[in-house]
Amino acid sequence: MLRDTYQRPLQDLRISVTDRCNFRCTYCMPLDEYEWIQKSEILTYEEIARLARLFAGLGAEKIRLTGGEPLVRKDLAELVARLTVVEGIEDICLTTNAALLAEQAAPLRQAGLRRINVSLDTLRPDRFQQIAQRGSLDSVLNGLFAAKREGFRPIKINAVIEKGVNDDEILDLVEFGREHGFPVRFIEYMDVGNTNHWQSDRLVSKKEILAIVASRFPLREVGRAEGSAPAVDYALAGNGVDVGVIASVTEPFCGSCTRARLTADGKLVTCLFSREGHDLKKLLRGGASDEEILAEIRGVWQARRDRFSEERWAALNSIEGYRPEQHKKIEMIRLGG
Ligand SMILES: C[S@@+](CC[C@H](N)C(=O)[O-])C[C@H]1O[C@@H](n2cnc3c(N)ncnc32)[C@H](O)[C@@H]1O
Ligand code: SF4
Repeated sequence: MLRDTYQRPLQDLRISVTDRCNFRCTYCMPLDEYEWIQKSEILTYEEIARLARLFAGLGAEKIRLTGGEPLVRKDLAELVARLTVVEGIEDICLTTNAALLAEQAAPLRQAGLRRINVSLDTLRPDRFQQIAQRGSLDSVLNGLFAAKREGFRPIKINAVIEKGVNDDEILDLVEFGREHGFPVRFIEYMDVGNTNHWQSDRLVSKKEILAIVASRFPLREVGRAEGSAPAVDYALAGNGVDVGVIASVTEPFCGSCTRARLTADGKLVTCLFSREGHDLKKLLRGGASDEEILAEIRGVWQARRDRFSEERWAALNSIEGYRPEQHKKIEMIRLGG
């Protein structure tokens, strides 16, 4: 099995299918200082499927489609259909803001997609405008319930919690999840990209989130799915629906990170906080053989020594502190959340 310098295997592949998005979430989206990837530089579905096959040959079992907003890419169901037949891939998941899901849920399901994560940070229309800056809460909820009617399971809700923005909705989101059967994953607000002006005092830690949830719902820790999942899960008493927290800042999980990322323009990236990637598109379009591409991926993974979140946590707790602006990163929309 392929392993990196800390003996971490490559088991998951996150594919950003586009850097475009129909929202402008304040915690994610770069505004002025970003150069969009040119259309001709974006990998075709054929190229993505070829790479997925090669990654599967190296141990990848799971694929997550993300972006940017994956549903703004035309005919995403066609890509799903190509990926479901890749030998070795056991699980495909989509992460979406759901604004376009109502119209695409049926074709995605027919193509073989079974589960979806929907980002939903608030249940209040005015606050939704403030966070996403485009689109509407109604379109997201329509998409979410259309996916439920189509039989997707599980449909998990991802909610980024930011102090003073939506931390007063933690219990409402749990209630909503319980009522409709959606497990909720709270995500600690992270310093992604270069322009989200992250400050540690806007972070609501896992400990704080759990204390709020536990004030109404007794919790029992279940742990991480398969040991390598980003979320630590908790069962809610008296209900089959669970709650999880992704604590990339206060409880970094670099030690068990098995995720490789593919940017929309074909760069292999080994950490969500990487400064740069390794160009696989150049090989693909330069006529490289499967063996040559495999050798490149193997070399990159074997040299992998990323543990950014652990280093950030150490810096946050040091006298010098952590200065986000000193760490240039690839934008989240480009490498996929
Ligand atoms: C970059 S988005 C891409 C997929 C899709 N557009 C969506 O919003 O679900 C993937 C995930 O990253 C999360 N995310 C974006 N910026 C973040 C930040 N600063 N801190 C924590 N999570 C963030 C989003 O909430 C979303 O759940
Ligand atoms: S979190 Fe998703 S929906 Fe929001 S701006 Fe980023 S990519 Fe778009």
